[in-house]
Amino acid sequence: MSTVCPEPAPADDGRTEDALVMRAEADPLLPRFHFTPPAGWMNDPNGLLQRGGLHHLFYQYNPEGPTHHRIHWGHAVSRDLLNWSDLPIALAPARSGEGPDDDGCWSGVAVLDDGRPALVYSANHEGRQTAALAVAADAADPLLVDWEKDPRNPVIAGPPDELAVTDFRDHCVWHEPDGSWTQLMGAGTRDRGGAVLRYTSSDLRHWTYRGPILVGSDWRAAPEDPWTATMWECPDLFALPAPAPDARAAGAGGSVRHVLIFSAWHQGHPQETLAFVGDYSEGRFHPARLQRVDWGGRFCYAPQSYLDEAGRRIQFGWMPEARDERGVARAGWCGVMTVPRLLSDDGDALAVEPVPELARLREQHEAIPQGAVDGARPASSICAGGLDIELELSLDASGYVEVVLDHAGGVPGRGERTVIRVDRGPEGCAIRVDPSHASHEPGVEARPVTMPVRTRGDADDPVRLRVILDRSTLEVFSDRRALSARVYPTDPESTRVVLTGDRARVGAGSVWTMRSTRRAGRHLRP
Ligand code: FRU
Repeated sequence: MSTVCPEPAPADDGRTEDALVMRAEADPLLPRFHFTPPAGWMNDPNGLLQRGGLHHLFYQYNPEGPTHHRIHWGHAVSRDLLNWSDLPIALAPARSGEGPDDDGCWSGVAVLDDGRPALVYSANHEGRQTAALAVAADAADPLLVDWEKDPRNPVIAGPPDELAVTDFRDHCVWHEPDGSWTQLMGAGTRDRGGAVLRYTSSDLRHWTYRGPILVGSDWRAAPEDPWTATMWECPDLFALPAPAPDARAAGAGGSVRHVLIFSAWHQGHPQETLAFVGDYSEGRFHPARLQRVDWGGRFCYAPQSYLDEAGRRIQFGWMPEARDERGVARAGWCGVMTVPRLLSDDGDALAVEPVPELARLREQHEAIPQGAVDGARPASSICAGGLDIELELSLDASGYVEVVLDHAGGVPGRGERTVIRVDRGPEGCAIRVDPSHASHEPGVEARPVTMPVRTRGDADDPVRLRVILDRSTLEVFSDRRALSARVYPTDPESTRVVLTGDRARVGAGSVWTMRSTRRAGRHLRP
């Protein structure tokens, strides 16, 4: 983790903890329809699973304060991916010296072992991780409240001797058709970059190392490819069903068969989430292409995906904070999940979109007037901290549109704004998100980021933009690509949409306010 972890003040009694929840709930920048923990620290989504209609979301959690320290597994459930109910903490670190996870229960996954849910996770002890197992105490409990750690933990006691492994953690586990288990673990190597290591087992408890499925140095990177860094966290390997025929025609190559998502990490610094698309067979991954899973750099990190009961592949990612330690300490909470996203194959790449359910949170609606965009004009009169914006933009050569999130509601002199600029240049269209004027708060990391899109940008193939703002979270979707960012305006509820541009037209557009799904009176230890 890159976060420096000062010792938190111990949460000595319920009152201290309630105070932390009250502090978090008083923060106007706390998202209202994205999942956050009751207060304290959250990072990766873990153990994603739908069972009997209920979606289970576990997450890396420190209930003692907004720092990465002695990580637990928080737990929440939802029937609709939108409204979440807190459940008791599922996994807590062992008491000092009493288990391999006495310094934290790090990331992992859920599987069904003959119908009984089991969690495979990284047990953290003195900065080294091993693989551990916990099983549902009562497989018939729909809420899966109680978990029992396996007395044989760790079930994998350390990395293999080969490959000079420097880092070793995080899991992807599945049942093979022959009844055996495969487990992948993320790794870093001394001089061959990141790696994903493969193990097999007949019972989830005894594992045999089978070699890497892919090592960073196997990949012949093109100059435009992103850097895959030195350690691959949170590997997630899955097959995608073939795309719809029209999408296949649009793609340059064949269809995506397998996707290997990983979070590129270097010496304590999360970089970004990447995916190899290619083919997995006989224990090896053969990459054909490398792509970004999100164009916002570290602001959508360590995602995990799962198949829901309808067969859709759903993903959540962790959006870390961009404010500094003092800002985080004042807020009392740290870390938010992305909206649930739907993964699919759009011909030659992994496609990422919000799940359609999200539209159910839309409330007040205003149409954005069609026509030429020239000079700044308010696109709607709506002012709110939770917005869902859809725009169809066509641009002449060198035309552009700026979708300005004016966080000051038009009040002169306040000046906080986030600019989402769509450009049609000689190389094609690109979307640039600039949060550098979004906040007067000192110590906020706010770098502009650009996402190229494959859209032509003319009237026949307009840029379709979806912008989802929830106080301090911003997610931009276009061309089935995603870009996540964080913004910290002083008064998020004053945000309104202003359009400016040149040689550009709005074909269709809408702004909706979004309903809050946040529950009041949450507890750090439900
Ligand atoms: C990714 C990560 C994982 C690790 C967990 C610890 O953000 O660093 O590699 O298991 O977080 O909280």
